[in-house]
Amino acid sequence: MKKFYITTPIYYVTDKPHIGNSYPTIAADVLARFHRLREEEVFFLTGTDEHATKIMRAAEAQGKGTREFVDDIVVLWRKTWERMHVTYDRFIRTTEPEHIAAVQAVVAQLQEQGDIYLDEYQGWYCVPCETFFREDDLREGACPDCQRPVEQVAQSAYFFRTSAYAERLLRYIEENPEFIQPKTRRREVVSFIEGGLRDACISRKHPGWGIAMPGDPEHSVYVWVDALINYLTAAGYPDTESEAWHRWPPDLQLMGKDILTRFHATIWPAMLMALGLPLPRRLFAHGWWVTDTGDKMSKSRGNVMDPWEIAHELAEVSGATTPVAVDAVRYFVLREVTFGLDGSFSMSGLFGRFNADLANDLGNLLNRTLPLIGRYRQGVVPEPGPGAGGLAEAIEQARAAIETRLEAIDFRGALEAIWEMLSAGNKFVDTREPWTLQRESKEVELDAVLYDLADCLRVTALFIWPFMPAVGEEIWERLGLKAAGIVPTWKDAEAGRLPPGLQVEAGRPLFPRIDLERTMQRLQAEADKAAAEEETEEAKPETISYEQFRQLDLRTGKVVEIERAPGSDKLYRALVDLGEETPRQIVAGLAQDFPPEELLGKTVVIVANLEPATIRGVRSMGMLLAAGEKKPVALVTTDRECPVGSVVR
Ligand code: MSP
Repeated sequence: MKKFYITTPIYYVTDKPHIGNSYPTIAADVLARFHRLREEEVFFLTGTDEHATKIMRAAEAQGKGTREFVDDIVVLWRKTWERMHVTYDRFIRTTEPEHIAAVQAVVAQLQEQGDIYLDEYQGWYCVPCETFFREDDLREGACPDCQRPVEQVAQSAYFFRTSAYAERLLRYIEENPEFIQPKTRRREVVSFIEGGLRDACISRKHPGWGIAMPGDPEHSVYVWVDALINYLTAAGYPDTESEAWHRWPPDLQLMGKDILTRFHATIWPAMLMALGLPLPRRLFAHGWWVTDTGDKMSKSRGNVMDPWEIAHELAEVSGATTPVAVDAVRYFVLREVTFGLDGSFSMSGLFGRFNADLANDLGNLLNRTLPLIGRYRQGVVPEPGPGAGGLAEAIEQARAAIETRLEAIDFRGALEAIWEMLSAGNKFVDTREPWTLQRESKEVELDAVLYDLADCLRVTALFIWPFMPAVGEEIWERLGLKAAGIVPTWKDAEAGRLPPGLQVEAGRPLFPRIDLERTMQRLQAEADKAAAEEETEEAKPETISYEQFRQLDLRTGKVVEIERAPGSDKLYRALVDLGEETPRQIVAGLAQDFPPEELLGKTVVIVANLEPATIRGVRSMGMLLAAGEKKPVALVTTDRECPVGSVVR
């Protein structure tokens, strides 16, 4: 039996899923279901990436233990997948003992063979991206990927010899053009590797959360190395004698374009090469869902990010059942945008497609065909007779296109092919006019037309099943196939396989039309109301009380040391003497206004009780006051000498 091992990235459990990170999981589910329909041995892996520093901090911020925090959030992920009709075969958590053992086995082997070595790391770490950056990687002192502040790291650390694999990797990519897709991404990866691969820092000292480095528990394995190994854990690694191991390597790994180049296309295959293991057959990087500015995603705007809430809203405005609405969301994300490119998500886009593609094209074919069989043939599928097969060509074209399009991970193309067949089906009703055949008592011809239409619906159910499983099943049931015990299989994806004599049932419309105008008006009104409320909340009060003013701890201080904040041309790191035991460290955005010598020794005014913050990796314990919006600003000082630490009122 042909195997199909497919993976999604494993998700950071800082929060519950949203439509963007549900996208690769829905996509993987469609392929898993498609390959199951083709009776292949499918193994669909997804899960959660739990040892990230940002997760530990998110837990801290909520005053929870990290373990308790991740346990709670993982429940939400599993629940969302179940609700979104996702049928994974294995849900892996990186905190599982089995995975911890696999990570330690990999690292120990690489250490033993000299691919991992201990050295000093001098550089930066972006916590939101969980990525190490060298000084020259930074952009204006911040993370080059997310532009957020980075934290300085200077400590002993373990390194993986990525550089030793650069040549082999380039050769592999060249010899296996299918390995990295789409093509534009492959080119990016190649130029990244050609730009020079440095050995990767793969440990963090005392992060407080993570998998211990074998033999050196002061260090934890870097979360990305830990995470990538999940794909091996799920195949039974390190037990390559196990039954599970036969599924290695993955046939397809899906991931967002943001985590392809640095991770899935370099460190990951280099690690596998070092372990002497076969590489995944294919990596496919998809694009990003963004919000269009005119249609900001926010719950209060009725334009929510949570896929389940989106489906709920759709069910509510259309009157469709929730499982059908869930399927419609799955359909929308894969139909709207070519997999690999970016798209902008909006509820109006979803509603528009629901009406046009589902209520009209698919809904029409269903709502016309089944009642006609009910009316003219007492709900029984007629014998096809000699004139049948009128839709065979359209069906065959769709089948072939779905196979090639899905093989190329082109969901949109596959769906377009199905919709071409639906349009041929609807045209068939219009041109063959079953009502005229009935009126003219052309029984044989009418049998053939009704049979062809019912058969086309059967094939439609099969074709859309991977994308819209609840809808597929519902059509199967309405056609009487379920009652007859006929199991859906791709082998039957051809015309003429519908057994005559089945009892069909028209049922309620699956996709009731949305009144777009009314719905959009209501959503707009809700959005306006929310925006107005937000504005009121944000508006500053005209006056504050004396008590409120007194809460500010303003004090004079003297600048005793000043230098540029590392990696920044705008920020100073200043030490200000406030008459306390030690001077305060304060980050001030004055580097473009004053040379350091002008500030040294100056008396300044400080907000001494401002909440501390880490700016560009430097802890700032207060704020230095300056006046004026435009650069250069004027420094707030005192007009005569006064002792440091004097209260300003
Ligand atoms: N934990 C790592 C992956 C480790 S895999 C060994 C990670 N997690 S993540 O939760 O931040 O992102 C997981 C996936 O969701 C990534 O592939 C990312 O591209 C995808 N997406 C997150 N937001 C997205 C959109 N708005 N749109 C499309 N995909 C998005 O990275």
